[in-house]
Amino acid sequence: MRTPFTELVGVAHPIVGFNRSPAVVAAVTNAGGLGVLAASAFTAPELDAQLTWIEEQVDGKPYGVDLLVPEKFATGDPDNLVASLRAQIPQAHLDFVAELLNRYGIPEAAAPAGVGALYDEIAAALSPAGAEPLLDVAFSHRIALIANALGTPPAGLVARAKDACVKVAALVGQAKHARRQLDAGVDLLIAQGTEAGGHTGTIATMVLTPEIVEVAAGVPVLAAGGIASGRQMAAALALGAAGVWCGSVWLSSAEDVANQALKDKFLRAASTDTLRSPTRTGKPARQLRTAWHDEWEAAASPAPLPLPLQPLLVNDAWRRIDAAAAAGHEGALRLESFFIGQVVGSFTEIRPAAEITRQIIADCERRIAELGGLL
Ligand SMILES: Cc1cc2nc3c(=O)[nH]c(=O)nc-3n(C[C@H](O)[C@H](O)[C@H](O)COP(=O)(O)O)c2cc1C
Repeated sequence: MRTPFTELVGVAHPIVGFNRSPAVVAAVTNAGGLGVLAASAFTAPELDAQLTWIEEQVDGKPYGVDLLVPEKFATGDPDNLVASLRAQIPQAHLDFVAELLNRYGIPEAAAPAGVGALYDEIAAALSPAGAEPLLDVAFSHRIALIANALGTPPAGLVARAKDACVKVAALVGQAKHARRQLDAGVDLLIAQGTEAGGHTGTIATMVLTPEIVEVAAGVPVLAAGGIASGRQMAAALALGAAGVWCGSVWLSSAEDVANQALKDKFLRAASTDTLRSPTRTGKPARQLRTAWHDEWEAAASPAPLPLPLQPLLVNDAWRRIDAAAAAGHEGALRLESFFIGQVVGSFTEIRPAAEITRQIIADCERRIAELGGLL
């Protein structure tokens, strides 16, 4: 299959595997797609180590990196970023989270020294100043593509990428966002529909993709949101996309770093079991609906804070919930959740990421051939 996307980044198949697990990224790239690592899950030294590892696995094949740099965010003192952001969290919010963890009996997870500070650093990196060290690391590696979500790329990113022959991609959820990204000089647009896991808007992929293809006027567009099978990929190509950008489906891969308790919850979930909620990051993001959301929606609960204050407030709570859920703790299992899209309802088993990639491609090709037979 050759499309403007396969030409742009030099891959065999027009499929992107977005994930925070380096082993998923390497597996998708080695299977002929483009693996893209979620940089926002790491501190700068961690990202450096992960990208070095990926490069050792992929033998020169292309891979990419994705950053979350929001346009609208709470600001702090750049010289003392974490502390100045932390100081903005109201005591009532801290009390609410502490009481919630206490009521569900979530134990203090034994964490290696310094982990709390690392979590804070990762949360604070969700701002232009905080993202700079991640960008420096990304550009010190042999990346083929850099993607940005939640707004136009940070100042200087496009020029820096062009100098390094790195393609720039941007996730968009509305036509007006696409126009701004094109003005900023991006090489690739990702039309991400509301079905998607993670931060997402309200327009469905079926409606959004052709709108963005129209606005893009020749700039390649990938469809994202609700694509986890060959049929869905064929539909995306029919809408005018040059390929697909998949996120959720890799949460059903063996290489994904999510704990087994969470993967089991995903396998049991229906497509109705997700919601868009700002309670993890401060911006609406699709995730698995659990008791966590019921608690935040209760009448007496505080309103979520803006990004990155909300992740600073809750990231350590999630570290504890994840650890306890992995150990089978009942209260933690009720709260346990993660970003996931509506395709979670189609998960039936955990498989290697390469097998998932190959099956989506093979089923898509078969479906396209079948459609040809309709004429
Ligand atoms: C667990 C998870 C985390 C995500 N985190 C990010 C992120 O950090 N940056 C980003 O650009 N998109 C993020 N996304 C969105 C994906 O890039 C992608 O657009 C989306 O998953 C596509 O829809 P799908 O989930 O239906 O495959 C995330 C998605 C998931 C499932």
